Amino acid sequence: MSSTVVTGIAELVTCDGTTTDGLGIIHDAAVVIEDGHVAWLGPASGTPMTDHHLDVGGRAVLPGFVDSHSHLVFAGDRGDEFAARMSGTSYDGGGIAASVTATRAATDDELRALVALRVAEMRAQGTTTVEIKSGYGLTIEDEARALRIAREFTTETTFLGAHVVPREYAEDRATYVELVTGPMLEAAAPHARWIDVFCEPHSPHAFTLDEARAVLVAGRAAGLELRVHGNQLGHGPGVLLAVDLGAASVDHCTYLSASDVNALADAADTTVATLLPGVEFSTRSPYPDAAALLQAGVSIALATDCNPGTCYSSSMPFVIALAVREMGLTPGEAVLAATTGSAKALRRGDIGRIVVGARADLTLLDAPSHVHLSYRAGVPIAKALDVQA
Ligand code: NIG
Ligand code: FE
Repeated sequence: MSSTVVTGIAELVTCDGTTTDGLGIIHDAAVVIEDGHVAWLGPASGTPMTDHHLDVGGRAVLPGFVDSHSHLVFAGDRGDEFAARMSGTSYDGGGIAASVTATRAATDDELRALVALRVAEMRAQGTTTVEIKSGYGLTIEDEARALRIAREFTTETTFLGAHVVPREYAEDRATYVELVTGPMLEAAAPHARWIDVFCEPHSPHAFTLDEARAVLVAGRAAGLELRVHGNQLGHGPGVLLAVDLGAASVDHCTYLSASDVNALADAADTTVATLLPGVEFSTRSPYPDAAALLQAGVSIALATDCNPGTCYSSSMPFVIALAVREMGLTPGEAVLAATTGSAKALRRGDIGRIVVGARADLTLLDAPSHVHLSYRAGVPIAKALDVQA
């Protein structure tokens, strides 16, 4: 088994929780990697002998970003819809139909190439784990196909047949829910770890509380774990549904009531509030107060939600910068939410922290400190580190 030591780390942000700020920073550090895992870390002065050596020249090293919410399997884009929003129209999920049409029309190879490009774009910006949802197929074959393709890139695949009610079922929602909870789920489940639903009373296209509950309960019976899109377009029942069913994550949380916040705080060991500030940016929505959520004891995560409608950005550094500027987080809190927080949202203990035994998924900054991620917003300073070993 070969080993590599990474030296020249001005700031190693372990996110191991051993310091009061949670960041566990070691200055002038080294990390030894063996067989894709962290075998040793500590001050550079104590570095053990290894086969290979990589000197990163006084830069910061962080856990690779964990993007715990994306919809990468789609064809086409909706730039016109974005431009219309920037001149005053609002988002209600109706544009998803256009992406469904384009995605159904694409070949497997075309979709695979698009996902590969987007995953590479993420890695080039420091993301080492990505969750990928289906949801632009909305037929048995197209949803199973999206998940089969997503599975080629990640183990974190999510069945989102309950993204919207497709046009052909608009007058017969109940039949579509039966399809999603029956044969579509059966076809999707072998390729998915998770099931998700867009629970949103403010969109005529999304699912009501009762429909969403039926989808999640069926998914759980099929062996899938639960995630929810909730409280995106207004106050609603998504957060309480997610907490009630013990979902790993409820995502968006743009509009939260005091009882939502209390419920999330009580469920902090089980259910993470995943914040998606790229969506507030791209839909001109108000940003939720992440600092207040932390203060209340809520577990939070940050993710991109990369999708053609509400946020066509694959950039975790962009999301981190927005969370600092617009949601009240410190640069360190935002890094924690994008690493350990989003690992928790995926119920993964092997990523999101740099500790002995964890996967050696490391992100290198072309800067001496994690603060530069938000301080130098828009400058491409983060990239996933490729290490031999
Ligand atoms: O997470 N809200 C539902 N789904 C996506 C948007 C999908 C789209 O508009 O294409 C989201 O925001
Ligand atoms: Fe989403």
